[in-house]
Amino acid sequence: MKLSARLSALAGASALVLGAFAAAVPASAAPSGAAAVTPPDISVTNVKQHLADLQSIATANGGNRAHGRTGYKASIDFVKAKLDAAGYTTSLQTFTSSGATGYNLIADWPGGDPNQVVMSGSHLDSVTAGPGINDNGSGSAAILETALAVSRTNFQPTKHLRFAWWGAEELGLIGSKHYVNNTPAAERAKIKAYLNFDMIGSPNPGYFVYDDDPTIEQTFKDYYAGLGIPTEIETEGDGRSDHAPFKSAGVPVGGLFSGADYTKTAAQAQKWGGTQGQAFDRCYHASCDTTANINDTALDRNADAIAYAVWNLSSGTTTPPTGTVFENTADVSIPDNGAAVTSSVTVSGITGNAPATLKVGVDIVHTYIGDLIVDLIAPDGSVYNVHNRAGGSADNINTTYTVNASSEVANGVWKLRVQDKAAVDTGYISGFKLTFP
Ligand code: TRP
Ligand code: ZN
Ligand code: CA
Repeated sequence: MKLSARLSALAGASALVLGAFAAAVPASAAPSGAAAVTPPDISVTNVKQHLADLQSIATANGGNRAHGRTGYKASIDFVKAKLDAAGYTTSLQTFTSSGATGYNLIADWPGGDPNQVVMSGSHLDSVTAGPGINDNGSGSAAILETALAVSRTNFQPTKHLRFAWWGAEELGLIGSKHYVNNTPAAERAKIKAYLNFDMIGSPNPGYFVYDDDPTIEQTFKDYYAGLGIPTEIETEGDGRSDHAPFKSAGVPVGGLFSGADYTKTAAQAQKWGGTQGQAFDRCYHASCDTTANINDTALDRNADAIAYAVWNLSSGTTTPPTGTVFENTADVSIPDNGAAVTSSVTVSGITGNAPATLKVGVDIVHTYIGDLIVDLIAPDGSVYNVHNRAGGSADNINTTYTVNASSEVANGVWKLRVQDKAAVDTGYISGFKLTFP
């Protein structure tokens, strides 16, 4: 795997160490048995931007996003606006708790079998003590970015996808209990999987998988096996998050967790890194649970694991957009840690401006996509960044991005500009495609 090549080149690792490392990392993330569906890479940069926005909301609202406080409703409005713009059918479910109105946000991705629902949820409320960025901005932002990736790639799964942001978890799973209790049994039975994400970017992280539905559990374990990272079963209080009411109602559940106030053992620090004898999250339920209280690597891995599970558990296809296509399939090599290169297409015969949903097909073969900055350049030179060094050591970008190009005249020469900003790994542009709906 190229990560080992990079380590060897950068650090001069001995053949012995390199051999041991390479042997510990399987070649692919295919789950045992079935062929795995490859989801798009979830951009940790985007997930962190959502966290920065939630932090700003807390800061502007007395330092928290707690149930019954203005920061909670502002958080709900923020997430809802993004989902509405991405084509989700959203609904706000209200309830009353401790004399204040609470809100759940439910977002359905149109399509898929309505009798087979794959649902992902995270609580969006914080405690009153702080902004709640790891608990639980992390899960909320990661499922938001996963939902947006579903939209960007126009994912058309066999099953129906639903996402939920719960209110008043911190007061005793109030929002999720309200949803489960107010969903008729026949509707509940259609939920074939409920995936819960509560605290997935802990600063001294562990990699815990819920030990509930075996298929869901195995899906997450397969993802981590593909990365060569050991997981443990989540034991920091089963039933302490929003999967509990679903589980009680007989819905298959699962989830990921990077640890709260339990202490990382020496053995755990040995296999995961971090600090033994220290809590997974020393800022759990405290004012210091800010954007500084996030481990980017854990957040990145867990966000990608969420997409892996959502894609694989709903087993569908990503349909190429239909419309008028302009494409350049000539290979353009990208110099290592060098100057930007471009691939161009000439658009003609389109009246007026480009659409708000311009589909930008990017096919780049590269051994380390974390090296790359990828921009779309409009005919007048306007720059639209679509990839900014996210994805770490993942191979290749083969994705269709949606760009709001509605302020650009459609006709003219459009360019895909790619720059490799770090030494060692290399690659080439293999295809650039614009689709006008
Ligand atoms: N739900 C708890 C909170 O929000 C955190 C927590 C503790 C947790 N143990 C857990 C979450 C186990 C998921 C699984 O404060
Ligand atoms: Zn929580
Ligand atoms: Ca490089």
